[in-house]
Amino acid sequence: MKGRIAIYPGTFDPITYGHIDVIEQASKLFSKLIVLVARNTTKTPLFSSEERIAMIKEVVRTRNGVTVDGFNGLLVDYAKDHKATVVIRGLRAVSDFEYEFQMAQTNRKLAKNIDVVFLVPHDQYTFLNSTIVREVARFGGDVSSFVPPVVRKRLSEKFLQP
Ligand code: COA
Repeated sequence: MKGRIAIYPGTFDPITYGHIDVIEQASKLFSKLIVLVARNTTKTPLFSSEERIAMIKEVVRTRNGVTVDGFNGLLVDYAKDHKATVVIRGLRAVSDFEYEFQMAQTNRKLAKNIDVVFLVPHDQYTFLNSTIVREVARFGGDVSSFVPPVVRKRLSEKFLQP
């Protein structure tokens, strides 16, 4: 699969060790990986798109072949513009499947050349999502086993602000 450009899209509000696990796996499979902060119209993120991109950039900065970008439109349009033919998604549990299956089929209808690759995070991350992280941080809980230090710092700054 080397030589193909892959996109890992998500809301990343904020990026967690579970997402980083997927990025690590995907970057071994593809020579170029774009981590894309995309828009899920059902969500109102805590962090702005710029803040989420900045956090991801800090986290992946030493990783060869991994870049970070943001986009507000359709994923398939971004893929076409950037010559990407693979979309990466993480599958944590059976509960993820229905939504992921629906998105994969929709993207395929919209762009026939896109292949969707599902990667499974290690079991210590299968319970994790960004909502849990935001919730624990909001009430001053310890999120150090869920997110890297840079994200922990941004979360505490966010919740300390009046
Ligand atoms: N580790 C930890 N958490 C993970 C995870 C992993 N490996 N994989 C997913 N999650 C969590 C996320 O943190 C998120 O948690 P939250 O809901 O509590 O915030 C949740 O699972 C959903 O995953 P996420 O990766 O954030 O995806 P999303 O569902 O918000 O993203 C988009 C969906 C942005 C990719 C999709 O809406 C999209 O493609 N938008 C562009 C517009 C478009 O093309 N729409 C048509 C799509 S068919």
